[in-house]
Amino acid sequence: MKICVLGVGYVGLTTAALFSDLGNVVHCIDINEERIANLKKGIMPIYEPGLKEIVERNIAENRLLFSTDTASAVKETEIIFICVGTPPQASGETDLSQVQSAAISIAKALNGYKIVVNKSTVPVGTGDFVRRTIEENRLENHNFDVVSNPEFLREGSAVQDSFEPDRIVIGAPNKQVALKLLELYATLERPMHITDLYSAEIIKYASNAFLATKISFINAISHLCEEVGADVTVVAKGMGADSRIGRAFLNAGIGYGGSCFPKDVESLIHTSGTYGYDFKMLKEVISVNKGMVPHMIGRIEELIGDVKGKTIGVLGLAFKPNTDDIREAKAIDMIQILMERGATVKAFDPQAMEHTKAIVPDVTYTQNAYEVAENADALVLATEWREFKLLDMERIRNSMNQPVLLDGRNFYNPEEKTRMGFTYYGLGRGIFRPNS
Ligand code: UGA
Repeated sequence: MKICVLGVGYVGLTTAALFSDLGNVVHCIDINEERIANLKKGIMPIYEPGLKEIVERNIAENRLLFSTDTASAVKETEIIFICVGTPPQASGETDLSQVQSAAISIAKALNGYKIVVNKSTVPVGTGDFVRRTIEENRLENHNFDVVSNPEFLREGSAVQDSFEPDRIVIGAPNKQVALKLLELYATLERPMHITDLYSAEIIKYASNAFLATKISFINAISHLCEEVGADVTVVAKGMGADSRIGRAFLNAGIGYGGSCFPKDVESLIHTSGTYGYDFKMLKEVISVNKGMVPHMIGRIEELIGDVKGKTIGVLGLAFKPNTDDIREAKAIDMIQILMERGATVKAFDPQAMEHTKAIVPDVTYTQNAYEVAENADALVLATEWREFKLLDMERIRNSMNQPVLLDGRNFYNPEEKTRMGFTYYGLGRGIFRPNS
């Protein structure tokens, strides 16, 4: 099949890589000329394990074409995926201007029947908005259908999530259109859910909001655990063993970040509000999430006193491991507060330091994790990169001003670290003193 993908960010590029690898010809369009020029040379705009190889392979096979010319690509293809950005506005409402521009471009280029598939994360009702926009702007009276096919990939495992999704949701206006999309995904042999347009749109937001709720729930439980001397990781394991609950997304930590959960929860609250439902539960999910970094700062101060004039080392900056994305990264919120309070901050991240420098330039960025720890009064793990598990912790302990380790992701074993002479704090696990 011939496919057009509008917008080559995380979702667009991964979608294009998937469909081209399945043997389709995919025209990838973006208004960012530099991004397109780079992609033609195989330079990725994002870091995503495995993606570069697939993109290079399909460029070489002439199945993956990059251009800024939307009109030609729309005319050439029958199925058009809208994968543009849907950033939040201050009110929490989703900014649909890029979706609108994409719909207008499609309308102006309509030269026959098209299936317009919305893959961007958008509030319920956006399918209708895309339909109206195309109807109002089309120059020739060709038919088209609008489908919602939300994307559930996670950054850091985008390729795997796209090739092996838990489910594929297709919100289609009729059976014929649904079948066309089914055909496109058939070779993946994954469960397909054919729904109406509105339900598909809500499935995406409800899924993300539910996962965020799971995280805030376990983070709320982590406060109680600390107070009574329980261990939240043990609690999560016990809860997760119930198949109705499941262990996933029950890791307590300094909170969820990224380009999805924070904005999608806000957007769902906003959309619900416009339909007359005050989604108070999700407001509390946000509030718990926002409280996690201040809670961690409180524990740092409890262990080393006033941070003014002290040196704090931060391991990990990205909002989660295996990505260079720092959008809504909790490490950055934490660094900003520490610096406001007069601390000197050193940091290391395997992928995200370049992006972070633009936001917090006054941090000392080091070459590796060991330099972060040198002369530090406390070392805080903010992002659980696997390589941080393999560090020589004895070397780290010996180089620190005082061996204080705060674990923002419950990544380390408290007993092991205290045995090594660290004072260790884990969120929802409490403070452990070194064995004397
Ligand atoms: C999330 C969803 O997981 C995807 O299914 C969805 O497609 C995507 O949003 C999207 O809407 O585009 P993503 O934001 O890439 O994916 O990252 P996640 O792996 O979900 O992690 C989000 C945040 O939650 C991270 O900051 C992570 O550290 C935090 N988290 C996750 C926890 O604090 N505890 C957990 O148990 C799990």
